[in-house]
Amino acid sequence: MDYQYQKGDETPGKVWLVSVIVGREIHRDAALELSELATSCGFQVAGLTEAKRDRPDPKTFLGSGKIEEIKSEALANGAKALIFDVALSPAQQRNIEKAVGIEVLDRTNLILEIFRQRAKTREGRLQVELARLTHLSTRLVRGWTHLERQRGGLSKTGGPGEKQIELDRRMIATRVKALREQLKKLERQRNTQRKSRQRGEVLTVALVGYTNAGKSTLFNRLTRGGVYAADQLFATLDTTARRCFVGGDVEVVLSDTVGFIRKLPHQLVEAFKATLEELEYADLLLHVIDVSNPQWQQQAAIVEDLIHELKADQIPCIRVYNKCDVAFSGERSHEEDAVSISAKTGEGIPALMEAIDRRLDKGTRRVVIHLPYDKAGLLDSLYREAKVEDVAYQESIDVTAVCPPKVLGQLKDYIEGWTEPKEDWE
Ligand code: GTP
Repeated sequence: MDYQYQKGDETPGKVWLVSVIVGREIHRDAALELSELATSCGFQVAGLTEAKRDRPDPKTFLGSGKIEEIKSEALANGAKALIFDVALSPAQQRNIEKAVGIEVLDRTNLILEIFRQRAKTREGRLQVELARLTHLSTRLVRGWTHLERQRGGLSKTGGPGEKQIELDRRMIATRVKALREQLKKLERQRNTQRKSRQRGEVLTVALVGYTNAGKSTLFNRLTRGGVYAADQLFATLDTTARRCFVGGDVEVVLSDTVGFIRKLPHQLVEAFKATLEELEYADLLLHVIDVSNPQWQQQAAIVEDLIHELKADQIPCIRVYNKCDVAFSGERSHEEDAVSISAKTGEGIPALMEAIDRRLDKGTRRVVIHLPYDKAGLLDSLYREAKVEDVAYQESIDVTAVCPPKVLGQLKDYIEGWTEPKEDWE
C-alpha cells in the first residue's frame, strides 16, 4: 500500500470519495459502505461523488468531464486524496493522479490499508505485508513508484530513474521471498496445532460474518476472552481460537475469523485463505449477521458466497441474527436453527448454546474407519450423515469422518480403536 501516514500524523487527512457503478451492477448504499470503510480506516471524509459508467474508460476509468468535476469539488473541500470504490489499473491510477494533482487510492489500496492497521498476530501482519508488496510490485513503472512516494510522503518528488526502479524491484523480490518462507513455517505450526486438536477429538466451531457483525463481541461472550471488539470495520484480522464449553458440558474450540466484505480484492482472499482454512476444518459455522444494518441481507449473501468459495458450504451452519437489542430491519426467513441474539446484552445466548449443542449432536466424534471393500456402499450414508474429511483407498477404504452417535453405532465394527462412549461425553 502506498498511502502511509507519517509518524506523529494524528489525523490521516481529508479524502474525497468516488463511488462508481459500472454497467448494471446494483448495489444500493455502495456509497455508504465506502464511507464507512474510509472512516474505519481513520480518514476524514470531505465528501463524495457518485458516478455511473457502462464500461470503464481504459485511461481514466471515468470520462474527462467527470474527472474535472471531481477535481474541483475535492480540492475546494480540502481533500488530500481521492478514494475510488473500484479496482483501478496502475495506468488509470497514474493518469487520474496526473489530472487531479492529488493522491489516488483504489478499493484494493483502501482495504489493504485497513488490513495493515488491523493485523494483530504475527501471521496476519506478514500476510498483509506480502499482499501489499505483491500489489506494489505490479505498479512499479518508470516515472511513478509508490516506494518513492512512501519515502517522500504525499509530496511528489519527481520520477525515479530506471536504476532506482530496478533496485526497488530487487528489494521487493527479496522481501517477498523471506515473507513466504516465514509464512510457510507458521503454517506448519498451525497445522500441528490443528492436528493435536483433532487427535483430542475436540470439535471446532468457527464464527464467520460480515465485518462489524459482532463476531468478536460474541466470541468474548462465549469464551470470556479478551479479544478486541471495536466499532470499526475489520477490528479482527486473524483467527483467534479458544476452548470453551457450550450447552454446559460440551467442550469446543471456538474460533473468530476475519470479517468478510463485498468485493474483497482477490489477492486478499488469497492472502487470507491460510487463516480462513480454519473454516474448512470446522465442524460447525456460526454465521453472525448484524440485523440492525439495513444491508444485512446483501451482507449475508456475500458471506455465503465466500463460504462457498472457501469450500466450506457442506459444513452445518447456524444463522445468528445479532444486535436484536437494536431495531430489526427487513424480513427474516424462518429457518430451523436460526437464533436471534444480542452479543452485547446477552439476550438469546442460552438459546444459541442449545442450538450449537443440538447441531453438534452430543456424542459426535471424529474417527478413522476402515471399511472393507465389500462394504463400500456404506460410504454413501457416511457422506450423507457424517462429515467426511478424508478417504484413502488402501487395503481397506480408510475414511476420516466426524460422525454423530447413530453413525458411530452402525459402523463401530470398523472404527479404529473403538471404545463405547462414556456416559458423560466430553
Ligand atoms: P470485524 O472484526 O470488523 O469483522 O468485526 P466483528 O464482527 O468482530 O464485530 P465486533 O464484535 O468488533 O462488533 C462491532 C461493533 O458492534 C462493536 O461496536 C460492538 O460493540 C457492536 N455490537 C456487537 N454486538 C452487538 C449487539 O448485540 N448489539 C449492539 N447494539 N451492538 C453490538
